[in-house]
Amino acid sequence: MLEKLKARWKVNGVNLVLIIATFALGGSLCGWAGRRLLLLTGLEKGITWIVLYILLITLLWPLCVLLISIPLGQFAFFKHYIQRIGKKFGGKKNNGPVNIAIFASGAGSNAQKIIEHFAGSHTVKVALIVCNKPTAGVLSIAADQHIPALLIEKERFFNGDSYIAELQKQHIDLIVLAGFLWKIPSSLIAAYPKKIINIHPALLPKYGGKGMYGGNVHEAVIAAGEKESGISIHYVDELYDHGKIIFQASCSVDENDTPGSLAEKIHRLEHAHYPRVIGSLLQK
Ligand code: GRF
Repeated sequence: MLEKLKARWKVNGVNLVLIIATFALGGSLCGWAGRRLLLLTGLEKGITWIVLYILLITLLWPLCVLLISIPLGQFAFFKHYIQRIGKKFGGKKNNGPVNIAIFASGAGSNAQKIIEHFAGSHTVKVALIVCNKPTAGVLSIAADQHIPALLIEKERFFNGDSYIAELQKQHIDLIVLAGFLWKIPSSLIAAYPKKIINIHPALLPKYGGKGMYGGNVHEAVIAAGEKESGISIHYVDELYDHGKIIFQASCSVDENDTPGSLAEKIHRLEHAHYPRVIGSLLQK
């Protein structure tokens, strides 16, 4: 049961305890406040009292829970939770999940982690894998996970419609680059403003730009004698590895590190953070 809740709300054990505590304390506060307010009206306990009490606690509950969530550090979770309830009961049309397209050209280990992270989510769906390399490992991942894949070709991507119609047909809301080596054309950036993000295997603005991908990055970092490297998650603009940085995490570069061992450390960081950062971006 607790494991299910952790997976559903995408939280760790500590946050789960704090969320449950917020529900309990917020609920008690709401009941207490409801009774105090009714006392002020001088109403006798009876059917009217019960109806009014139910009405009052329904109105007070979001307020009380949000109030309690602040000291317990769970405000962001409850804000999102209450918004979702509001949408459900407010008669607003449910617009369905946020659809992500992952663009990848390689093995796809990041794609795999992102897919796993959102599997079972009702609000976020990895709806499409876009790839420019017929032999890329990420295509097998897409097939295994039953996610539609779109194999793109250079001419149409750079000089045609950049597959924008295709992406819109699939209702793609966010484009996540995960080891995608082609530059993103301006038309696609214009069609998805602030909706395209990338992960770079170094601490930008250093070691970014044309030709700075895969092993090249780690070789350059080691050759420069850096003591630290890391990952940068950033918005994509017209320049390589240049858009506004959303998140960075670092790791040490040790004397005996090789480009291969550094790549492993970086991959571990990417897998730990990229899915989570995407999730929190989508909650904003
Ligand atoms: C990652 O290191 C990412 O930072 C870079 O390309 C690599 C992709 O790895 N942009 P994978 O295909 O996700 O395993």
